[in-house]
Amino acid sequence: MSAERATEALPDAERARDAGGRGARILDGRAIAQAVRGEVRELARALVGRGVVPGLAVVLVGDDPASQVYVKNKDRAAHEVGFAVRTLRLGAETTQEELLGTVRELNGDRAVHAILVQLPLPRGLDAAAVLRAIDPAKDVDGLHPENVAELVLGSGRGLVPCTPAGCLELCDRSGIALAGRRVVVLGRSNLVGKPLALLALARDATLTVCHSRTRELADVVREAEVLFAAVGRAALVRGDWVAEGAAVIDVGINRLPDGRLCGDVDFEAARERAGAITPVPGGVGPMTIAMLVRNTLLAAARQSGLEGVIAASTPAGQEPSAPA
Ligand code: GUN
Repeated sequence: MSAERATEALPDAERARDAGGRGARILDGRAIAQAVRGEVRELARALVGRGVVPGLAVVLVGDDPASQVYVKNKDRAAHEVGFAVRTLRLGAETTQEELLGTVRELNGDRAVHAILVQLPLPRGLDAAAVLRAIDPAKDVDGLHPENVAELVLGSGRGLVPCTPAGCLELCDRSGIALAGRRVVVLGRSNLVGKPLALLALARDATLTVCHSRTRELADVVREAEVLFAAVGRAALVRGDWVAEGAAVIDVGINRLPDGRLCGDVDFEAARERAGAITPVPGGVGPMTIAMLVRNTLLAAARQSGLEGVIAASTPAGQEPSAPA
């Protein structure tokens, strides 16, 4: 598809430019995440009123500096919405058996509705085995094979990984439609790329997944009316890879040698061509944490037979999809 056709297909909301008529609409993930967290706070209050305090356990193994920051932010966000949060910090020397023992203990704790084991784990620990050990009902990361299967089936019964769900929520609340449109997911990780592709398909996107082995990558990305970039390579996507008017959702959070954060997209160049774009930081990152508290709320409501209390706000990706 040409860039012109991609632009033609855009709804008004996405064609909207800033006051000067130049540059993309900047999608403010912080503001949207704040709105989601406000809604979760209200709904959590309703659960607490019925005697259920949503409980989240976060497990951090080792001393990876980035993970420590992420976990601190998750802990704070969950406190702010009124959850009972338990952050377990385990030493880097923790064995697989000890970690599995911790997970099993949390599985059996009725006050804990949601378990998150922060990734990556230190070398020598088997993350896949740890994720399999988490009770799927408490798997707030949506990475247990049972939850992955529910996502593949589009059943709406599982828990959906937070970052992909956050991407969808951001699109929904920004008027960016996926149905029938050319959506390109750049990246194929289990944590982001694959679940995002499934969520986009469930929303009737015409989907392309590309990755490090894709030939003519720039040409594939230029086809996107909606681009999700999730490869973890700073500014890989050049400005001229972006179709005029496209919506660009940048999942990358890369640390540059000078300490600054940079997405997977060359933001300054891409904003000249895109219709809408997320900044880094301040785009997808805050949405991940918003969806973590949303998933925790959902897990707590389901485990307590109170799903009806929060039914009015179905999170992105949680609704069943038609397979046709
Ligand atoms: N590390 C980076 N992102 C994530 C995430 O979404 N969940 C977990 N568990 N670890 C992560």
